[in-house]
Amino acid sequence: IYLEAPVGFVVGVDLLQITPLEGAQFLPNTDVTNSTTINKLCDLLPLQGADVILSDMAPNASGIKEMDHEKLISMCMSVLDLAHKVLQPGGTFLCKYWDGWQAPLLKAQLAKCFQHVKTVKPQASRQDSAEVFFLALRYKIK
Ligand SMILES: C[S@@+](CC[C@H](N)C(=O)[O-])C[C@H]1O[C@@H](n2cnc3c(N)ncnc32)[C@H](O)[C@@H]1O
Ligand SMILES: *[C@@H]1O[C@H](CO)[C@@H](O)[C@H](O)[C@H]1NC(C)=O
Ligand SMILES: *[C@@H]1O[C@H](CO)[C@@H](O)[C@H](O)[C@H]1NC(C)=O
Repeated sequence: IYLEAPVGFVVGVDLLQITPLEGAQFLPNTDVTNSTTINKLCDLLPLQGADVILSDMAPNASGIKEMDHEKLISMCMSVLDLAHKVLQPGGTFLCKYWDGWQAPLLKAQLAKCFQHVKTVKPQASRQDSAEVFFLALRYKIK
């Protein structure tokens, strides 16, 4: 029994209808790229904002590699916009992407506002999957 375990607060956002899960709040049928989503998110988050923003989002792949890549990068940019509004100084940002020509642009955007940015491929990500993640540590501004 972890009597002293810290208690976190988790909000999940997805376009799909999400089955409720104890210990988490959801914004189902919600598009991260929609400008009204920030208001819904702020209504749920504590005043100080979020410690971590984590995106495992992906579009339905069309199979056209460059197009899928560009779409996912633009979704990551939308999540970064949200992060600018709710992430606490010192916070962490993780986002999934498919590699391609715009990945360095996203990385450069992250490098502007985080002290450390690196590409990671977690163990939980299948080796045969093209997905990789940017892990950005220590958010510098608010
Ligand atoms: C790889 S799945 C994530 C799976 C999730 N991590 C899990 O364990 O269930 C990608 C998810 O991104 C969601 N998604 C795609 N575009 C989105 C958007 N614009 N806004 C919110 N969610 C989106 C999809 O509906 C899909 O559920
Ligand atoms: C954004 O979300 C709102 C509220 O769900 C919805 O009414 C509106 O149509 C959406 N806008 C776009 C461009 O999808
Ligand atoms: C992916 O396709 C499914 C099934 O057609 C649909 O329900 C879902 O909204 C689509 N997701 C995205 C991100 O477009």
